Amino acid sequence: MSDRNDRMSSSEGDVREPASQSHDGTVGSDAVVGKRAGMAYSYRQMERVRELLTSLYAVRRTAKFYPMDHPAAVEGTHGLMDVVARFHSEGVDVELVFFEGELVFGDKLLAEESILFDQLIRDMASIGAGSLSFLQGLTFPELSRAIAVLSSEQHEIEHAGGLVRMIEEAQLIHVRVGEVHVYERPEPAEDPEASAHEAYEGAVDIMREIDSLIRHNKVVNSGQVKGVVRNLVDNVLSNRHAMLELTGLKNYDDYTFYHSANVAILSLALASTLTNEYRFLSSLGVGALLHDIGKMKVDLSILNKPGALTAEEWALVRQHPVYGAEQAALIPGLDKSAIVMILEHHMRYDSSGYPQRVPRSPQHLASRIVAVADAYDAMTSRRSYSAARVQDEAMSMLAQGAGTAHDDVLVRLFISMMGVYPPRTVVQLSDGRTGIVTRPSDVDPLKPRIRVIADEAGHIIDPVVVDLASTDLGVERCLDPQSINIEVDDYM
Ligand SMILES: [Fe+2]
Repeated sequence: MSDRNDRMSSSEGDVREPASQSHDGTVGSDAVVGKRAGMAYSYRQMERVRELLTSLYAVRRTAKFYPMDHPAAVEGTHGLMDVVARFHSEGVDVELVFFEGELVFGDKLLAEESILFDQLIRDMASIGAGSLSFLQGLTFPELSRAIAVLSSEQHEIEHAGGLVRMIEEAQLIHVRVGEVHVYERPEPAEDPEASAHEAYEGAVDIMREIDSLIRHNKVVNSGQVKGVVRNLVDNVLSNRHAMLELTGLKNYDDYTFYHSANVAILSLALASTLTNEYRFLSSLGVGALLHDIGKMKVDLSILNKPGALTAEEWALVRQHPVYGAEQAALIPGLDKSAIVMILEHHMRYDSSGYPQRVPRSPQHLASRIVAVADAYDAMTSRRSYSAARVQDEAMSMLAQGAGTAHDDVLVRLFISMMGVYPPRTVVQLSDGRTGIVTRPSDVDPLKPRIRVIADEAGHIIDPVVVDLASTDLGVERCLDPQSINIEVDDYM
């Protein structure tokens, strides 16, 4: 549905170094990390890292509730000791680095584990641990003392004079913690609206930068993308209404950058009605944000062509999911599920879209979510070859495609989340007044909250907020803001 409606425009951005280079170049003077740069684990040892991380995560959690001599904590410490001892028996130390939300083991960035153990990375960052090493010679009592230190709360560590001081006092010789590159989470937003704006702008900016990188055959920094997405997820979870309102922002010249940010937010908001599972939302956000990067490999004169495309041009445009998947596969450390979403976002629910798969296999849930968000945002945007549809028309087109183009359950959820008249929709009320939708109703998708801005005669008035759900009023029809000379931003 959105094929003809979501072609892209270009822009220039600044160029950054690949993640792996900046990582190795900035880890600083920490002795453990310095050694890590040359460390390469065997395939078998790499396979074991998930067990190691699971044990570490589990014992830290246990130690938060029980003293270290409690049987549960002793058992947990034994579990970790067993895994660590296997590395030591093979003559290697265990060296983990937590870098800007990523996990690095030896000289490898662990993409999947970075998502699976997102909470562990955040926890370690929050106590100021940028790296953690278990060196050969480690004993059970020493590991037990280390776990007690590593399970401390942030305020306890600050009170004790910092992590390094605590490590020294616990006489840990074979456990080293490097205070390098602590990932700084933003302070809880005092102003949710400003925080939502910042997250949105971050998403637009990174798409501008990725566009420039891909057009210049430079490497995209996956850590940076994940940081932006984390910010989007946090804001969608804490302030969905403000984020959904922002998705009404469109930019004709920078269409793709705004479209990508909108699709990421709409996808996350839709998914958050199903689950608050952070890992799922994080990987969904990455795939949704990057869903159209394949268009960065298609000629702009084709993407922005005002008239109909030739068969050859159309064949090229249809290749963008494949080009995008290829581009995403080249990004070091990018979650593989993002590649699936990029490849499948035009595949359609009934598998009749493109690219075709033989044998046909159903679209992944995450791809189905992105497809709904993509179609809606594309339909409500003005392009070089088509006008923007008013919101209720787009909703009705989505509904028409339920069960064929789109997952019918997701379409239903999307409409009930956005309302039939989503935020920023300009509407005429049943009493003749004109208003702008500020947020959907929790009880009735047909009765959003409205900021009334003009009287029955069309004269602008001081805005009045009306919650349609608590009145007999209804929406008569949607209006095109341009046709009545209204700048929606002036009233938001
Ligand atoms: Fe697309």
